[in-house]
Amino acid sequence: MALPLNFPSVIAELNLLSILSLLNFASGYRVPLHQATGRGAFDSIRAFVFTLYISSSAGGEDNLLSAKGMQSIEEGKVAELMGVSDKIHIEKPHATLPGVLVGELGGPVWEVVQLVTKVMRETGNVLMTSGYPDMGSFVLEALKEGERARKDNSNEKVHPECDVILERLVRAIPAFQDMALVDGQRELCCGTFLGLIRLILNPNTSAVYCFKKALLTIHAINLRFGSSSSSVPVPRTTHLPIFSDNVIPSILVHLGIIDLSTSNQELGLASLFPEAGTNETLDLLLTRPPLVTDGNNAKPKEIPKEGPVLTKEQAFILRAAAVDACELIIQTAQNLTDEDLKPDSGENHDGAKENLSWLKDITLPEVDAWIWSIAKDRADYRKLERFVLTGTTYF
Ligand SMILES: *[C@@H]1O[C@H](CO)[C@@H](O)[C@H](O)[C@H]1NC(C)=O
Ligand SMILES: *[C@@H]1O[C@H](CO)[C@@H](O)[C@H](O)[C@H]1NC(C)=O
Ligand SMILES: *[C@@H]1O[C@H](CO)[C@@H](O)[C@H](O)[C@H]1NC(C)=O
Ligand SMILES: *[C@@H]1O[C@H](CO)[C@@H](O)[C@H](O)[C@H]1NC(C)=O
Repeated sequence: MALPLNFPSVIAELNLLSILSLLNFASGYRVPLHQATGRGAFDSIRAFVFTLYISSSAGGEDNLLSAKGMQSIEEGKVAELMGVSDKIHIEKPHATLPGVLVGELGGPVWEVVQLVTKVMRETGNVLMTSGYPDMGSFVLEALKEGERARKDNSNEKVHPECDVILERLVRAIPAFQDMALVDGQRELCCGTFLGLIRLILNPNTSAVYCFKKALLTIHAINLRFGSSSSSVPVPRTTHLPIFSDNVIPSILVHLGIIDLSTSNQELGLASLFPEAGTNETLDLLLTRPPLVTDGNNAKPKEIPKEGPVLTKEQAFILRAAAVDACELIIQTAQNLTDEDLKPDSGENHDGAKENLSWLKDITLPEVDAWIWSIAKDRADYRKLERFVLTGTTYF
């Protein structure tokens, strides 16, 4: 994942990549962001981070990407750099003058601006307090610690460096502490959580760890620096769990992979996506995508339809279910027999017989990336509703 920018140093690039992952949330504001900026959540955040980079003179007083700059950034500046300064007010009737409207700060885009500002300031504070000049320096130190764990790996763990890095990131930075206690009776949940770490506090309550942004930070570093000869120690990420957001669980529900119809009534999950998983829906979604016709790209992007609004607990359960489901997808692929995989059991787009033996080697981050890309690139999948959780800085 090379960024289309020029960097004066490896640390500067690592810093930007880390801040991009730190701010990779606001999925619950997909629709208002589309209306305000013409871009979805992630594209809005990415554009903001690029603007932040371009407008920050490296090393100078006004470098908003330094720990100090992050610590002192203000809402007005964030709104300006996001290009939404004119989208953060709502009109309200004047308290005493009938018929008079007054504008005041408010609305969903204002919420995003506030959340982004809060995460930047709070992270800047942590970095300043611990003596790091910027987030990149902090992450580099975590990578080096991971590298040491990898070198003296006496235990049997797969890729111990990721555990070490993840723990460092999550312990230090509040916006990475993406976890929750969920009422964990087996039949309540859609599955048990098989993430990196599992902690059963009592038989009925489980801690659910999603850690989407922290895991994504680690994987983004692997993608960017994995094939370069830079000084950055590169963690091996083939065994990381997926980066569970709202898109992946929603798509897995639509595709009938996560079945909510049997989930506990009290959770109110079964009715969230009424059309999902029915034969009619699946018949359409599981065929090959309609061929893209000329001029399709020129069409203005449609504003997507808002999906069901979830509670925090519902969102955690669906995200944990997606983590589980993807683990099972990988296991299923690894269990495929030679018979399943023989070349004439599948056809590619041109009707040619395809050798499917590669399926045995797919990894969780690849499944994650694939679901994400079809959700964005396939027109009929792009229209599928994603669940909404506002107010969170985790995804
Ligand atoms: C767990 O749930 C069971 C059944 O609902 C209940 O009987 C038990 O007391 C609970 N245990 C704890 C530690 O809460
Ligand atoms: C849906 O399809 C499955 C498999 O083809 C079939 O067994 C089931 O009866 C169908 N359900 C409905 C409601 O049509
Ligand atoms: C894969 O195979 C193993 C060993 O036979 C089995 O325990 C596991 O349940 C299988 N997993 C899936 C998802 O089929
Ligand atoms: C399919 O591809 C794999 C890896 O490229 C190769 O080892 C295998 O022999 C191929 N199978 C057939 C039946 O062509």
